[in-house]
Amino acid sequence: MRILRFLRSSVSIGKDIDYYSKFSPSPLSMKQFLDFGSENACEKTSFAFLRHELPVRLANIMKEINLLPDNLLRTPSVRLVQGWYMQSIQEILEFKDKNADDEKVTYDFTDAVIKVRNRHNDVIPTMAQGVVEYKETYGTDPVVSQNVQYFLDRFYMSRISIRMLLNQHTLLFGGKVKVNPAHPKQIGSIDPNCRVSEVIRDAFENARNLCDRYYMNSPELVLEEFKVNPITVVYVPSHLYHMVFELFKNAMRATMELYGDAMEYPPIHAQVALGTEDLTVKVSDRGGGVPLRKIDRLFTYTYSTAPRPSIDGARAAPLAGYGYGLPISRLYARYFQGDLKLYSLEGYGTDAVIYIRALSTESIERLPVYNKSAWKHYKTIHEADDWCIPSKEPKDMTTFRSF
Ligand SMILES: Nc1ncnc2c1ncn2[C@@H]1O[C@H](COP(=O)(O)OP(=O)(O)O)[C@@H](O)[C@H]1O
Ligand SMILES: [Mg+2]
Repeated sequence: MRILRFLRSSVSIGKDIDYYSKFSPSPLSMKQFLDFGSENACEKTSFAFLRHELPVRLANIMKEINLLPDNLLRTPSVRLVQGWYMQSIQEILEFKDKNADDEKVTYDFTDAVIKVRNRHNDVIPTMAQGVVEYKETYGTDPVVSQNVQYFLDRFYMSRISIRMLLNQHTLLFGGKVKVNPAHPKQIGSIDPNCRVSEVIRDAFENARNLCDRYYMNSPELVLEEFKVNPITVVYVPSHLYHMVFELFKNAMRATMELYGDAMEYPPIHAQVALGTEDLTVKVSDRGGGVPLRKIDRLFTYTYSTAPRPSIDGARAAPLAGYGYGLPISRLYARYFQGDLKLYSLEGYGTDAVIYIRALSTESIERLPVYNKSAWKHYKTIHEADDWCIPSKEPKDMTTFRSF
């Protein structure tokens, strides 16, 4: 009996996923996020939007999970993640036909949203574990690696966006008062006047604590702002914090490794500039840099030159070692139409640059959509490169003379 019910429910959930995956996610602008949280917005509006949009975003990415190689899908970690997504979409769909005017319904919905958010807390390390298990068992081939990279970028971006929606809803409607006591001026997780330098200093201090713990010393920060002081932007401070914190940890590690036991270290420079289109944050170190050939590799998941931190040490945050710092930070930058790039002068140091849209009307969510082009990405066999591979030794030059 139970098995029958289970079978019936997994058939119907399959149909629901098909149905919702046919809608494209609706990207919101920073302004729309703010309007949702303004005085006249209400829980009902947010509820009506989310009960459709959450299943759409979940279903779109669930379809893409199914395109992963079978052996990766079969790892216990990926199964666990898939199970969480199934459970969550089902819980949200419970509200499909409920009356939005009934306060009990909207109250229960907010509860469900909190549950979903908590269930998905460990998605990143769990998915990462699945990829590690898969690579250890089956090795890596370039096509699979490329597909996995393509998938993880989209999967984690989807997750960032879904969490943004969940967080806004719970921060605005989860408590009795709309105001977040820790950040009274924020609208949910958005600060309409986010002071960029304050976030930078805060992230630097915390990265520095880790660096001191690991190396017994740390470089100083030199911070400059260009044009206005203080530079502010409509942004999610926790996203900005995440990015600069990762960049500082990397810059500190490179500096400390290069200068070894020298008791003096070149400072890390952070520059903030505001233009009409871009707000730019540059973090520069003199930690010896990275050759151009390797720069792209730094953005692949699991690439790290640091020893992998032990699982037992998970509570004491490590300075480096998972290889997720750069790729995830770049996703945060891209999420609101910005970017993150690394420019290196090998033998000297590295500049890491975060680009953020200066205008909140331009800060619009960048979301993956499951469609034919996405599908093709996984199914196309990547053919041989269309550029010659240079041979290391120059050929016998006499052959050229005959031309
Ligand atoms: N500023 C930098 N200078 C030199 N190497 C860097 C710098 N930033 C990143 N890297 C290299 O990129 C790798 C990946 O960085 P990241 O994604 O943050 O992962 P992790 O720090 O966990 O290794 C680092 O292990 C390091 O080799
Ligand atoms: Mg790092």
